Amino acid sequence: MQAVLWRRYGPPESLTLGEAPMPVPGPGEIRIRVHATTVTSGDARLRGCRGAGLFWLPLRLVFGLFRPRHPIPGMEFAGEVEALGPGVTAFTRGERVFGMAPRGAHAEYLTLSAEGCVARQPAGFTHEEAASLPFGGLTALLFLRDVVQWRSGEALLVHGAAGAVGVHAVQLARHFGLRVTAVASARHAALLQGLGAAQVLDRATRDFTEGAARYDAVLDAVGGTSIRGVRRVLTPRGRHVFVNFGARELARMLWTHLIPGPRVLCGYAGGSQADLLVLRDLAEAGALRPVIGHAMTLAEIAAAHALVDSGRKRGALVLRVAPPIPA
Ligand SMILES: NC(=O)c1ccc[n+]([C@@H]2O[C@H](COP(=O)([O-])OP(=O)(O)OC[C@H]3O[C@@H](n4cnc5c(N)ncnc54)[C@H](OP(=O)(O)O)[C@@H]3O)[C@@H](O)[C@H]2O)c1
Repeated sequence: MQAVLWRRYGPPESLTLGEAPMPVPGPGEIRIRVHATTVTSGDARLRGCRGAGLFWLPLRLVFGLFRPRHPIPGMEFAGEVEALGPGVTAFTRGERVFGMAPRGAHAEYLTLSAEGCVARQPAGFTHEEAASLPFGGLTALLFLRDVVQWRSGEALLVHGAAGAVGVHAVQLARHFGLRVTAVASARHAALLQGLGAAQVLDRATRDFTEGAARYDAVLDAVGGTSIRGVRRVLTPRGRHVFVNFGARELARMLWTHLIPGPRVLCGYAGGSQADLLVLRDLAEAGALRPVIGHAMTLAEIAAAHALVDSGRKRGALVLRVAPPIPA
């Protein structure tokens, strides 16, 4: 089968399209014919094995100390179930599924556990639309529900609102009854208003930490907000939440747990089947609209990574996977 090959950590050009053996589903696994996948900020980070500060070593221990342990990258996918391993009863052949794999989604075929982060696609979604949801959607869901611990009626500011995590956070927060202020470049204003932001601040000209508005939570979806500055605009029980963080933010999280007042919080979003089902139900209820900022093909993998590296991605960057050539 065709697959992206990842043989060393490095720049986008270190990824090439090549041939890989067809994966065989083991007991409890399914094989998926991938129709669409994505390049996420997580994929770009792993490609170069870039982990903030202390996270570099754990990343290398998990993914390979000197070079990638697994030769095919890629997490998000949408496609159809093509083969069932022994003992699988939860899926049927031909069923349209989507989800997040730990790796291996940048290929024509992917195997993963039927109990992993995989589920039937939201009804009415195309493969491209379904593939655009899990990474940003699950991260936004877990951060809003488990870290921010949102309460209806609260004022939330989302910094970096036009990225994959941001566009889902804006939509989910609005759905859960929060008042959302989005911070992004001016070119994203119409999109973010359409997704439910009550106000959009141009990050180039407006510093929200200097304004008079107060927020119950600030969700920093990309990193870089000033802890001291944000503290000024938080309510007394406010939360400053970092999706992207390093040792400095972790230290402040520990410190703000010991003193009264606003808290700094960091977290990690995994991907379980149970949460994917929650996400799918929200998508089917119309609470989540797919935001596909860029559509490319699997063959354009290096250009896709370069675009993500630029920090200018809007929503999801989806890669279409062409049908395999019959043998
Ligand atoms: N903790 C976890 O479990 C977890 C899970 C998922 C992701 N993450 C991390 O979360 C971060 C965001 O992920 P993502 O997928 O949403 O990224 P993304 O889609 O690549 O975000 C791109 C967006 O970020 C904005 N941006 C870039 N630089 C900015 C800056 N200096 N200030 C404000 N906005 C900026 C850009 O908007 P403009 O056009 O306005 O510049 C662009 O639209 C990544 O660092 C990722 O590694 C963490």
